[in-house]
Amino acid sequence: MIESVKSVIHNFNAGPSVLPKEVFDEASRAVIDFNETGLSILEIGHRTNLFEPVMAEARALIRELMQLDDDHEVLYLHGGATTQFMQVPMNLLNENDLASYTDTGAWAGKAIKEAKLFGHVEISGSAKETNYTSIPANLSVSPTAVYLHITTNETIAGTQWKKIPYDCGVPLVADMSSDILSRVLDFNKFGLIYAGAQKNMGAAGVNLVVVNKNILGKITKPIPSILDYRNHIKEGSMMNTPPVFAVYVCMLTLRWLKREGGVSVMEELSKQKAAMLYKEVDENPLFAGTVMKEDRSKMNVCFVITNKDLEEKFLSFAKAHGIVGIKGHRSAGGFRASLYNALPVSSVKFLADIMKEFTLQHN
Ligand SMILES: Cc1ncc(COP(=O)(O)O)c(C=O)c1O
Repeated sequence: MIESVKSVIHNFNAGPSVLPKEVFDEASRAVIDFNETGLSILEIGHRTNLFEPVMAEARALIRELMQLDDDHEVLYLHGGATTQFMQVPMNLLNENDLASYTDTGAWAGKAIKEAKLFGHVEISGSAKETNYTSIPANLSVSPTAVYLHITTNETIAGTQWKKIPYDCGVPLVADMSSDILSRVLDFNKFGLIYAGAQKNMGAAGVNLVVVNKNILGKITKPIPSILDYRNHIKEGSMMNTPPVFAVYVCMLTLRWLKREGGVSVMEELSKQKAAMLYKEVDENPLFAGTVMKEDRSKMNVCFVITNKDLEEKFLSFAKAHGIVGIKGHRSAGGFRASLYNALPVSSVKFLADIMKEFTLQHN
């Protein structure tokens, strides 16, 4: 019999989501007294010797953790990843040019919709026929495309690209919002990577953009200054007031990630966490996975209950045991457990135990 552990919260939220406790401790101290200055992080100027080192360290940590070369620039920009759906084509796609997009679900769909405002779009691979329960096995990318866009992890559908199409022949652009820094990739092979910070990296309100500067500057139309990546590069990601606190939380989270051993350690832990939960989903007769096995996400585990009448009951049972955030996205239903970097392995084990216990009680 599992004891109720209401005092411990197991946070499976899809985003904003769990962050390391030490990040919350340090960030809350900084709101009261930043670096023993007697000032809050919220009341200092960004062009000061107090904040400038924060931005510099947040950028340097990304460079180090992703092992970036000198062609790649690191930016922290306002807005969520949704802003990047339009900022990417605005900076890369001329009206008469073609961009290649993969259609892997809700997030890719939103990126496609925005790109169409700027130029021509082809769909080089789609998972629509499988109702987005898989990743397209084959791509057909026009060699004339200015770039190929993929969503490395579809947060709602629970799918993830395992084999990144590095060899697609055109610059690769990726929305990594929900699996950034969770696995080792050849980050230098991407033309552009973007990610809203609020899942694996920090607080909402800021986007990480990693861009190879060689793909910029080929646009004929003027780009509004604040949306032109080149201006942000020139100004060291301080073109205007950055989202100071959100960048600070990213810096703290990245420091934590480095202390823990870096991206390869996160990858190892992700593998363990995902294997543990999918095993339970597969072996427990009351639950079933929704995604084809080879394309299952290690970040967002989507599953359903085979007896629909028990769905609400299971949610209540889980909640009574301190498990939060496992209700599936409102468009998908079922359950979704997000296993981001800061989620302890013990929380995943606990969820699996709770699933077993619930099944025993309802046999
Ligand atoms: C893969 C992916 N892309 C884009 C977004 C949109 O991010 P935002 O809400 O920060 O605009 C999300 C949000 O969850 C996401 O999961």
